[in-house]
Amino acid sequence: MTVLILGGTTEAAALDQHLADQAPDIRAIISLAGHTVDPRPTNLPVRTGGFGGVEGLRRYLVEEGIVAVVDATHPFAAIMPFNAEHACKAEGVPLLAIRRESWKPRAGDRWKSVPDIEAAAQVLGDEPRRVFLTVGRLELPAFANAPQHRYLVRAIEPIGDRLPVPHVDVIQQRGPFDVDDEEDLMRREGVEILVSKNSGGPATVGKLVAARRLSLPVVMVERPPKPDVETVDHIDQVLPWLVAQGLFATERGV
Ligand SMILES: NC(=O)c1ccc[n+]([C@@H]2O[C@H](COP(=O)([O-])OP(=O)(O)OC[C@H]3O[C@@H](n4cnc5c(N)ncnc54)[C@H](OP(=O)(O)O)[C@@H]3O)[C@@H](O)[C@H]2O)c1
Repeated sequence: MTVLILGGTTEAAALDQHLADQAPDIRAIISLAGHTVDPRPTNLPVRTGGFGGVEGLRRYLVEEGIVAVVDATHPFAAIMPFNAEHACKAEGVPLLAIRRESWKPRAGDRWKSVPDIEAAAQVLGDEPRRVFLTVGRLELPAFANAPQHRYLVRAIEPIGDRLPVPHVDVIQQRGPFDVDDEEDLMRREGVEILVSKNSGGPATVGKLVAARRLSLPVVMVERPPKPDVETVDHIDQVLPWLVAQGLFATERGV
């Protein structure tokens, strides 16, 4: 009786700790795509790498005796949530998705919402600007088509040659980020425009507050579509859901 947690997010890391504290007898495993070379340490066992599409995930569910799947992937993971939906439906395995709320603009915000990264690169315009890119290193190649800008890139891993333009400064850092530090950074680096994915959550919202304080424009990349599956917005709701599935007896001391 093993629960599969599809991870790669702060929610998956928090769920790892939550289950260790609240339900140490539940057997769970965290699955990571393997994109991050140095992922956060976990309490639960970890498996790494793709499953091999829907068919591979179906095989995995059967072979590993998976009784429930928690999709705690990132709001911008566009494929895995659909694979989970199809595989779980096919194998009759209950699936719950954790979806954090998206960020909403507030008074004073100067956001321009765009549907995808390519559109974000386009709306930066022809005039050279100091652009703070906080989109994740895998999305950087889209900005190679706008080499006139001077980029400040923040990424967890080294970016390699993903942004082959004349002016790039890189900060290698993992959140959470403090609002005042974000404001200092933007001032110091002369940032004129911020590019962000609408990831939601508290860990990286500081840059948006700082941009509001500095009255800087923000290009906000909105989320890709997600499958219509049972969803919660907080990890606290996962354990009651597992209990409600009849898989585990009670919430404490299962
Ligand atoms: N996209 C982002 O902005 C972002 C940001 C932070 C963290 N992450 C995390 O990074 C991972 C990859 O993101 P992505 O945008 O490439 O996702 P994706 O487009 O939905 O997935 C691409 C492929 O990566 C594999 N994969 C994704 N998540 C996996 C997981 N948790 N365990 C095992 N295999 C997984 C699957 O390969 P197979 O088809 O072979 O199974 C999937 O088809 C996700 O776990 C996500 O939570 C993504």
